[in-house]
Amino acid sequence: MSAGEARPEIRIAPGAAGSTLLSLGVYRPSRVVDNAEICTMIDSTDEWIQQRSGIRERRWAGPDESLLVMAEHASRQALGAAGLQGSDIDLVLLTTMTSFSTTPTAANLLQAAIGSQGGALEMNSACAGFPYALAVADQAVRGGSARHVLVVGVERMTDLLDLSDRGTMFLFGDGAGAVVVGPSDSPGIGPVAWGSWGEQAEALDVAPLLGDVVRGEATGDPVLRMKGQSVFRWAVTEMPRVGQQALDAAGVKGEQLAAFVPHQANTRIIDAMVKAMALPPEVVVADDVRWTGNTSAASIPLAMEHVLRDGKAAPGDLALLVGFGGGLSHAAQVVALPAAYAPAP
Ligand SMILES: CC(C)(COP(=O)(O)OP(=O)(O)OC[C@H]1O[C@@H](n2cnc3c(N)ncnc32)[C@H](O)[C@@H]1OP(=O)(O)O)[C@@H](O)C(=O)NCCC(=O)NCCS
Repeated sequence: MSAGEARPEIRIAPGAAGSTLLSLGVYRPSRVVDNAEICTMIDSTDEWIQQRSGIRERRWAGPDESLLVMAEHASRQALGAAGLQGSDIDLVLLTTMTSFSTTPTAANLLQAAIGSQGGALEMNSACAGFPYALAVADQAVRGGSARHVLVVGVERMTDLLDLSDRGTMFLFGDGAGAVVVGPSDSPGIGPVAWGSWGEQAEALDVAPLLGDVVRGEATGDPVLRMKGQSVFRWAVTEMPRVGQQALDAAGVKGEQLAAFVPHQANTRIIDAMVKAMALPPEVVVADDVRWTGNTSAASIPLAMEHVLRDGKAAPGDLALLVGFGGGLSHAAQVVALPAAYAPAP
């Protein structure tokens, strides 16, 4: 370009009017760990665990159930339910806090495994990862940079657990959930309400911290640490406001929802949110945590599958998703539940 010549206009891609969840697939590890088994590892009781968390059992992945195996299984279920192939996927967004690989990312490996020729991006926003990734997928489809986005939340939380820590080890489980996001004339994903509370980072972290490792000040296996009461207080005081923000942004009232599908951390947190948001009893409240534990980024798609499988809500019904956890971070949006889904075996 010579001096004085007008800068050529950058052409931008035309996007879709809206985006929607075309389909859902999940993977639940085969090993069920009930509270009786947990109590062989820590000094606790089934009654205490259920009273404090609602959890009766959780799924723990075996050595053959790697992050990639679980993510690929859930993805193939979602692709099949949508009638699509891996080659139809323009972008793979994989969200996890347990991949432990800076490069290649689990997203790269998943993109190759399903035969997509598209982009691949791993995102980590801990337990808030799924609604964060969904927001990016929605914007990619509406912005014209992708037609079909595969969004996968997958975790092996057991790789992070200190099995002697009775404040954390009974809470978490493993699994994967995947959705295909595609174009729609009628929007099926509402505006995201997202935020970060980095000043409270110490409430939930993984030690040794990466900065310490990089500076050579710490080594050792990564272990999850949590100040349970701090996380609890934050979630019950701030997350109802975040849920309301997502409802307001979508122009939807609580009583117009069919389902509330928050991150499955703990039934006490979920019950407090329902109460503070004054959601009417007709709104189905997902409680998959009772059988699955807290699976971090995988928990919202797993909980959507449970609600649909039970027939408590139907594909296309409106649901409020609220993800929250480590960071501390949160993200929430109103969605139409996936149009098609493959129930877990
Ligand atoms: C983890 C959690 C269930 C612990 O419950 P709590 O009421 O805060 O428990 P505390 O740590 O205050 O301990 C209370 C008592 O229970 C005991 N206790 C702790 N863990 C126990 C266990 N697994 N079994 C039995 N007793 C236990 C403590 O020793 C303490 O006993 P004391 O009163 O005699 O000293 C709760 O803090 C919580 O749900 N936090 C949110 C965690 C979460 O969801 N995080 C993920 C967000 S993504």
